[in-house]
Formats: sequence, C-alpha cells, structure tokens
Amino acid sequence: MPKLIQNIGCLYNVRESHTLLRGKELSYLPSINDAYLIVENGRILDYGPIRHFENDFEEIIDAKGQHVFPSWVDSHTHLVFAGSRESEFVDKIKGLTYADIAAKGGGILNSAARLQETSFDDLLTQARQRLDQLIRLGTGAIEIKSGYGLTVEAELKILRVIKALKAESPIPIKATFLGAHAFPATYKVNHEAYIKIIIEEMLPAIVSEQLADYIDVFCEKGFFSPEQTAKICDAAAVFGLRPKLHVNQLNSIGGLQVAIKKRALSVDHLETMTSEDIIELAASATIGTLLPTAAFFLRMPYQPAREMIDAGCALALASDFNPGSSPSGNMNFVISLSCIQMKMLPEEAINAATLNAAYAIELQEEMGSITKGKKANLIFMKPLSSLAYLPYAFGNNLIDKVMINGAFY
Ligand code: NIG
Ligand code: FE
Repeated sequence: MPKLIQNIGCLYNVRESHTLLRGKELSYLPSINDAYLIVENGRILDYGPIRHFENDFEEIIDAKGQHVFPSWVDSHTHLVFAGSRESEFVDKIKGLTYADIAAKGGGILNSAARLQETSFDDLLTQARQRLDQLIRLGTGAIEIKSGYGLTVEAELKILRVIKALKAESPIPIKATFLGAHAFPATYKVNHEAYIKIIIEEMLPAIVSEQLADYIDVFCEKGFFSPEQTAKICDAAAVFGLRPKLHVNQLNSIGGLQVAIKKRALSVDHLETMTSEDIIELAASATIGTLLPTAAFFLRMPYQPAREMIDAGCALALASDFNPGSSPSGNMNFVISLSCIQMKMLPEEAINAATLNAAYAIELQEEMGSITKGKKANLIFMKPLSSLAYLPYAFGNNLIDKVMINGAFY
C-alpha cells in the first residue's frame, strides 16, 4: 500500500521528464511549494501541490513544512581504502607538494601498500562504515573505484569488496576499475609491463567476474600519458567498459581530448583547463565532473565552473572521497564549496549533484530528480528559509532525516 508524505514546504527538482542539463539549463531547478509525495514499493508513485486525499494509505507522514530533495548522487569516489594518510597531510602543511609526496613513495603507493596487507573482511567493514555515514549525509547512489590495489590480486580484492557492498547496500552502486591509478614501484621504469598486466591480466579477470561497470585512468604527468590512457580505454572497450577518466587535475596534457575521442561518459577533476579545453568539452557529449573538495584539500585553484557553464558544458559534482586528496565524502560540503569558491548558483550546484550526477553513472532513470517511477531516495532538510540557505550555511548539518527506498534510514 502507498505511503503519503504531506505538508512538504518545498519539493525540489521535480521533473516529468528530463535530459542531461548543460550551460544555462543548470540554473533552472523546478520545484513545488506546499507539496505532497506518494511512495509505493520504494518508488515515487505521484506528487503535486498539496490536496486532500480520500484514499487509504499504509502511513501518512507529516513533513511539517520541511524542504525535500532527491538524494545526492556521488558519481566519483574511492570509498574502498585501507586506513588514512594524515601524516602526509602534516607533511603538506610543512611544505611538501602532492608531487613531492608521490615521488617519495607516498600518496597512492602508500595507500596501495596498506591495502595489499588488509583483508577482504577488514576492507569491507571499513567501507561499510563509510557508506553508512554517507547515506546519513544524504548520498542516495554512489560510484566507487578500485585503484589502491595495483596488483592483480589486490585490484580484484577491492572490486570484490565493491561487489559485496553492491549486494548488501540499500543504495545503487556503480563500480569502476582504476588499475591505471599509478605505476607500482616495481614498474617505475618499465611502464609498458604494468600496462600489459592491466590489459592482459586484470581486465579479463574483472570482466569474467563482472566486477566493473566502467574503466578509469589517472591521466597526468608522472602517471599515465594520454597515449597510454587511449590504449587502456581501447582494451576496455573490447569488453564494453566505457571510460570515466581522471584528467586535467594538475596539468592539461591532452587527457581531456583522449577522453572525448574515446566517448568517455565523464571527465573528472578539471582543475586545470585551458580555454580550448573548455570549448572542446562543451561541444562534446562527455560530462565534466568537478571535484572541488580535492582542489580545496590540495590548496589548488578551483575548477573554472563559471566559464564551463557559460560555454555550455554539462557539469556534475562529486566528492572524490579518498585518503589522499579528499578525505570526506560529504556532498553537502561539495555543494557549499561549489557555490562559495566556484561561484555556482545554488540551483546549478543542486542540479549538478543530483540529476547530472545520475547521468554521470547512468542512473538517470532511477535517481537524480523527483520523477514518477524513480527510487524514493529523499532528503528531508531541517527548516530552510530558502534554497540558498543550504550552501550558505556550510558545515552545518541541515539534514533532518533521509529516506531510502521509501523508508526512513
Ligand atoms: O582523485 N588524482 C588521482 N587520484 C585521487 C587521489 C589519490 C590519492 O592521493 O590517494 C584523486 O584525487
Ligand atoms: Fe578521484
């Protein structure tokens, strides 16, 4: 039997139908004041401006004027990792750069060494706790990458942890294979040998166990070149894995162009964009996923969101949750930071963190807006004086409760 939620002060991102939002379209956030919403079998059955019902409901929930949003969709995380890296954080405070730390065997390789020693069960326990916390912070669907394994065995271990999370989690999860995150110390010189392992050993094993939905490569100076990125994307394409790539984080070296050519679903990071890069992205079908908390944590210039929106790009926002550059998966802070530091309008940030983010992991039929038939994954906010209060009051937890599959979590 259906459940009625009545007395919703404002219901946001209400759409009968939709497409990926680009440029100016991002600033329109359709909403209904004084709304009701009906949920059945974990999905949105109906909604509209408040009215009187004669029907029988299993439950009537009084939202008491609260503002209700579709859950955040976090389309880029590295949620499965072992332990934390706060000692590097202190090294950075003392003056070392991200590149210095990586060159010392810190960074990704440090996390990989720890992960290789951590059992499947421990990893699953750690990841489960993080995911539970994120759901309480409003995340209603998530993408999780491998990439802290860097051996066949350890990459399979992370992806199996993600598969176990997928099976038990109440929220949708997409998995991305990021064996090409860094070159392990053994292959510091012989890069081609590691790429051969990725292509000939990791990929076939991952595909045969159906462990990944996408392929990712960290295309960056000192990591994977655009040519190597293209080669790995081509190998993954044979197995039907579409790229979602780390590009243009520290340098603009052609990763974006490779991604567009390989029909990447998204290009992620984009701290370092030339004006040509922005024009090319806007003209492509690829989604630009901005990770402002990584720029914040690494004290880097923020992504040029305004220029990208003005050029007509389709943008999503994600947390990049990982131990090295964004040790937080709090999407509420991502939204605030986008408005505060990248000058995104509240409406743009919410659209980028919901509907466009759902497109960035191909969950647009399930998530990202208040649309009939989509999952009833919702956020009930504490009283908001207006939409803008949400990004404005950064660091405050404004979430009163979240609903997942039609039930309070
Ligand atoms: O997305 N840039 C590459 N990978 C991660 C950070 C990895 C790490 O430092 O552990 C990111 O920012
Ligand atoms: Fe990342």
